[in-house]
Amino acid sequence: MGVYAQLDPLEPREAPPQKRPRGPALLAGLSILLLLTFLVLVHLRLHGDIAEGTEGTEGSCGDTCRIVLVESIPEGMSLGSSPSTFEAWLELLTTARHSVDIASFYWTLTNEDTHTHEPSAAQGERVLSELLQLPGRGVSVRVAVSAPSAKAPLDDLKALESSGAAVRTVDLPRLTGGVLHTKFWLVDGAHLYVGSANMDWRSLTQVKELGAAVYNCSCLAQDLGKIFEAYWALGVPEASIPAPWPDNFSTSFNAETPLELPLNGTAAAVYFSSSPPALCPSGRTEDLSALLGVIEGAEQFVDVAVMSYLPGTEFSRPERFWPPIDDGLRRAVVERGVRLRLLAGCWGHSRADMFPFLRSLAALASDRTGFRVAVRLFLVPASAAQSRIPYARVNHNKYMVTDKAAYVGTSNWSGDYFERTAGSALVVAQPGAGGGAGTFRQQLQDVFERDWSSGYSVDIGDTQSWAGRCGPR
Ligand SMILES: *[C@@H]1O[C@H](CO)[C@@H](O)[C@H](O)[C@H]1NC(C)=O
Ligand SMILES: *[C@@H]1O[C@H](CO)[C@@H](O)[C@H](O)[C@H]1NC(C)=O
Ligand SMILES: *[C@@H]1O[C@H](CO)[C@@H](O)[C@H](O)[C@H]1NC(C)=O
Ligand SMILES: *[C@@H]1O[C@H](CO)[C@@H](O)[C@H](O)[C@H]1NC(C)=O
Repeated sequence: MGVYAQLDPLEPREAPPQKRPRGPALLAGLSILLLLTFLVLVHLRLHGDIAEGTEGTEGSCGDTCRIVLVESIPEGMSLGSSPSTFEAWLELLTTARHSVDIASFYWTLTNEDTHTHEPSAAQGERVLSELLQLPGRGVSVRVAVSAPSAKAPLDDLKALESSGAAVRTVDLPRLTGGVLHTKFWLVDGAHLYVGSANMDWRSLTQVKELGAAVYNCSCLAQDLGKIFEAYWALGVPEASIPAPWPDNFSTSFNAETPLELPLNGTAAAVYFSSSPPALCPSGRTEDLSALLGVIEGAEQFVDVAVMSYLPGTEFSRPERFWPPIDDGLRRAVVERGVRLRLLAGCWGHSRADMFPFLRSLAALASDRTGFRVAVRLFLVPASAAQSRIPYARVNHNKYMVTDKAAYVGTSNWSGDYFERTAGSALVVAQPGAGGGAGTFRQQLQDVFERDWSSGYSVDIGDTQSWAGRCGPR
């Protein structure tokens, strides 16, 4: 702040030099010199902060950032697929030389929790065994996990601790009344994963997930690192949320001033948002603002794929009506003629009140007004054996793609996730991407089109096709 305030007097420097009495001139000259020195120092310091920890990656991060859209497609489904979440996690683990930091909700990478012997747990078990070997290879492993509920399995966390990993439980129920729902990985301060996949074997083979892996991108990884450090700081006994957060947690990359860098050689403007507001140090865009901003920025279309959608608080009591996202979507349709498509997940645990709200959104559609809205449900099929796996066979995606940007998040679209629960999202603006083949935004759009037009999705109006399969019977 102070720096910018002092910059103004320097600006009219174009004025031709004038003859002045010597004393004042000398004084003016000296103070300008001082000011310049100060500015140079500040510049060096800022630069130093950003450059810190970039050793180990070639050149500046902008030259080499590689982004890969990764998915988990539940076994038995036929959907042409992106690289898998499993492949990305293994690549991150084999790449790791110094550090692996993981922000997570809960851990069940082996199928101990189901007391079965599911062959499809093999990928999760492999990820855990690779993780357990890291400390022995000199890689420091830190895990921030939501304070486990009484019935949460603890085996993986215990195994991690005995392998030499540092595990901190973040007591968000006490701190914000939510949970730590974020899912991201950070490797060597240069590579990262963010997306919907939990540290759960089902997230690799039995639940449909979507995320992004970014490699050789230290600027971005270090910014996500600041979100991790906040969780880490809150993971000590009796922690309290600092207000304000110390300066070193703040960021200059946000919705107003995103980080501009090439992703796979294509220009992009990128930032991470975070929730809830109390976990956003200065400069960090709140996740709800990020999401609403992406909707507001759309000129042609908004496509949303999210597991659960509810303009209300889902968990906190008393239950409240919570319309900010619903309002934002309707406004885009009504005021700007944007085409909205929403693909919600549904399974046996879906809440009954999600459906009337989805129907209400779809009911806006009208040829006479030109309002373009469509809502579909995505159903993951299950064989008899698969349907016995608890909490599986569902579309767990949480993303949005518009003609301007891609938003890959970790939160369901209901009130608690933005007000109390810790989550984060990667926002990638790649406008001018009309034909933009090969951009991340375009890839996300292709995935959405694939799912929307697949045989696994049904129109919300076609109740017969889904009523028996969504929500408790
Ligand atoms: C990072 O970039 C370097 C140099 O281009 C390359 O050798 C390395 O494989 C990249 N790492 C990853 C994980 O992509
Ligand atoms: C800020 O500094 C404190 C004290 O050194 C440290 O514990 C914390 O991790 C730092 N935060 C970040 C984001 O680096
Ligand atoms: C998202 O919503 C569903 C349905 O309400 C819920 O079961 C699930 O736990 C929520 N969170 C996750 C894991 O995404
Ligand atoms: C970026 O390049 C990698 C290969 O280097 C590829 O797998 C990935 O799909 C590309 N991402 C995009 C968004 O084109």
